Amino acid sequence: MNTAARYFFALRDWVDDRFPMTQLWNEHAARYYAPKNFNFWYVFGVISMVVLANQILTGIWLTMNYKPDATQAFASVEYIMRDVPWGWVIRYLHSTGSSAFFFAVYLHMYRGLVYGSYKKPRELIWIIGMFIYLTLMGEAFLGYLLPWGQMSFWGAQVIISLFGTIPVIGEGLALWIRGDYVVSDVTLNRFFSLHVVAFPLLLCALSGAHILALHHVGSNNPDGVEIKKHKDEKGVPLDGIPFHPYYTVKDLVAVLIFAIGFAWVVFYAPGMGGYFLEAANFVPADPLKTPEHIQPLWYFTTYYAILRAIPHQLGGVVAMFLASSLFFLLPWLDRSPVKSFRYRGWKYRTALIAFVISFLSLGWLGMQLATPLYTWIARFFTVIYFLFFLLMPFYTSTDNDKPVPERVK
Ligand code: HEM
Repeated sequence: MNTAARYFFALRDWVDDRFPMTQLWNEHAARYYAPKNFNFWYVFGVISMVVLANQILTGIWLTMNYKPDATQAFASVEYIMRDVPWGWVIRYLHSTGSSAFFFAVYLHMYRGLVYGSYKKPRELIWIIGMFIYLTLMGEAFLGYLLPWGQMSFWGAQVIISLFGTIPVIGEGLALWIRGDYVVSDVTLNRFFSLHVVAFPLLLCALSGAHILALHHVGSNNPDGVEIKKHKDEKGVPLDGIPFHPYYTVKDLVAVLIFAIGFAWVVFYAPGMGGYFLEAANFVPADPLKTPEHIQPLWYFTTYYAILRAIPHQLGGVVAMFLASSLFFLLPWLDRSPVKSFRYRGWKYRTALIAFVISFLSLGWLGMQLATPLYTWIARFFTVIYFLFFLLMPFYTSTDNDKPVPERVK
């Protein structure tokens, strides 16, 4: 052993005597056995982690020049874009990052639906994931006010006033959130503090808990077979392979491919034709002039379409909140003994396909003007959306599921 290696191992042993560094590495990487049949769908968790890191790092640098003050916020963003060296890259990394975050998280959740990853014993991984999802929605909403453009201001105005529709406490609640009778400097200040401190802390803590819960029970896989049922004499799952180096290398390839697509957006299409940055937000907030169309960014439009589809205001608000939270109940609504789509019967397969078509169609409708025709189409898809959840106990318990193999194929 050469001198450098001897010093390295001596340092490692010194740390290990005082902190469980090697033990943690073994438990979570080198001796963490993941199913050998992971496919493309298993990369979005790691991609979400990379995007979370990107958001935190670029957010720290943006905060160095951003001013959370209603008279200066818009101009400070323009200053970052034009005068701060590399400021425009940092800003586009952050704005593209928020869309990339939802893109990765939606595909990650969809994987859960396809392979039944929310089912026993992974209910808590799913529930923690749902808290991450709701926190992420809150984080994106808070951040959108900060550039203090027209859409920031009016978007916040519309969403906060939704709370006002709640009977008895609604008005007081909306006032408490805004801190004022209209969206103002007070609102901007509190949104800033929540966006840069409270919600990121929450996201990191929840993500940590998510991984701990995952490593406690072990990953599901595309066959939906529990690999811990078949172990060798050393207790190693027969269908498992060490996470490191096998999946660290595989994930690295996925992260690099993702980074290429991400960089393309950042450098060539940061606004993505209005889908990632809206034109109205390049105009400073004007409390006296409502923009012609107020609409949220693409990742909220499914719920926005549901809100607009219901003729009753409070009913719309309740439906919108239910639509985004019903996923919490999936572990209990789904009665099928089978996890993976591969071995599910035609009923669940049809229901999932109908749900995905509804989710995407509502997403598209939420970006259009609410004409009478579109409103009726949105109502139709809203009904399908809710039926997916409400009828789940019935169609999953009576489905013609196929036999699941004992071992990973
Ligand atoms: C900041 C956001 C998130 C991060 C960083 C994250 C990270 C991860 C990672 C690294 C894995 C293991 C690799 C993989 O299976 O892809 C995982 C698994 C999982 N995640 Fe997430 N996740 C996030 C959000 C969510 C959300 C929103 C949900 C659902 C509501 C969710 C549900 C799950 C489930 C059920 C698993 C286990 C999957 C299986 O074993 O088949 N996660 N997550």
